[in-house]
Amino acid sequence: MEGVNWYRPTWVEVSTRAMAENAKTLVALGKRKGLDLMAVVKADGYGHGALAAARAALAGGVKALAVALPEEGAALREGGIEAPILVMGAYVPGTAEVYRRYRLTATVSGFQQLRAVAREAAAGPVQVQLKVDTGMGRLGVLPEQALALAQEARAAGGVEVTGIYSHLATADDDLQFARAQMEAFDAIIDALDRRGLLPPQRHILNSAGLIRLDGGRTTMARVGIALYGLYPAPCLKRELRLVPALTWKTRVASVKRVPAGMTVSYGRTYRTASETTLATIPVGYADGFRRGLSGRVSVLIGGRRYPVVGAICMDQAVVDVGDAPVAEGDEVVLIGEQDEERIEADEWAERLGTINYEIVCGISARVPRLYVE
Ligand SMILES: Cc1ncc(COP(=O)(O)O)c(C=O)c1O
Repeated sequence: MEGVNWYRPTWVEVSTRAMAENAKTLVALGKRKGLDLMAVVKADGYGHGALAAARAALAGGVKALAVALPEEGAALREGGIEAPILVMGAYVPGTAEVYRRYRLTATVSGFQQLRAVAREAAAGPVQVQLKVDTGMGRLGVLPEQALALAQEARAAGGVEVTGIYSHLATADDDLQFARAQMEAFDAIIDALDRRGLLPPQRHILNSAGLIRLDGGRTTMARVGIALYGLYPAPCLKRELRLVPALTWKTRVASVKRVPAGMTVSYGRTYRTASETTLATIPVGYADGFRRGLSGRVSVLIGGRRYPVVGAICMDQAVVDVGDAPVAEGDEVVLIGEQDEERIEADEWAERLGTINYEIVCGISARVPRLYVE
């Protein structure tokens, strides 16, 4: 850990090999469906580190990258990434310069945005992709406006349309609705084709869509969660073998033997039933170890599960290790594998009534990321 300026032994290990392997698996799947891949590395690569995720994905054969914000795209360029980068957030008028400077592709999700880009393109051309709302109810023009948007974009000087895309709302769940969205999108592609307005890139599939659906008339799929070795829904684990890339670790900060009847942490929600050993770990909700997990998850120490007891604090939490010979400095795994045991982000997600995406994105910037092969 030479040159690392952190002193608290709480860190996330990210396997760049796992991300590259997952990318290869997904690229091969895309190839069978006639699709190139765009890796979604927004929100700092779903908490894994955007630059490392981008490099691994490109090494695995993806052709392009997607982020949510122009600043995320700029950071990738500053990091030396040369691949095309699509910014998926709606275009904010007045920001064309950053798109030009960092060679980013903007998302135009309405007529006003298109007109803003067109005005600002007077200072130099801007690449855009058009967004159509086929059922997500979020960004994009409605299908019946797509042709008019594409025509206006074609007529606008300095606006180069490299693609058109949409987003699935239920690919991890309701396939019937996802198929209806795909049909609506294919119909738009047909209409553009008939008028000579077909842009080179067309995409709608996310990870779940790529796993479960065919590409129709699209040319690309945008994969995020699967790249990181996580499944968009637990039921998809049977469909494809992915390798989780992230392990969250800490080390026992303090141990003490306590008598029966001792209460633990704020609010005294846990009371020891008999004499036991409490191990305090230096990680808390400010790191993304969510308070809602208090008393509801375990951690791994020496390859065994021990319960997190009492309220998780901002910077610390307490584990009841019973009579196990746990010592200060012992390695603790919050998420990941230790010996034969494993705790998945999905387990936390289920306890919290959320999705694994939110768990990994929620590991705060305060936790250093360490990249391992
Ligand atoms: C517009 C868009 N496309 C693609 C993705 C990637 O989805 P997934 O991570 O499920 O593959 C996301 C993720 O939130 C998204 O917002």
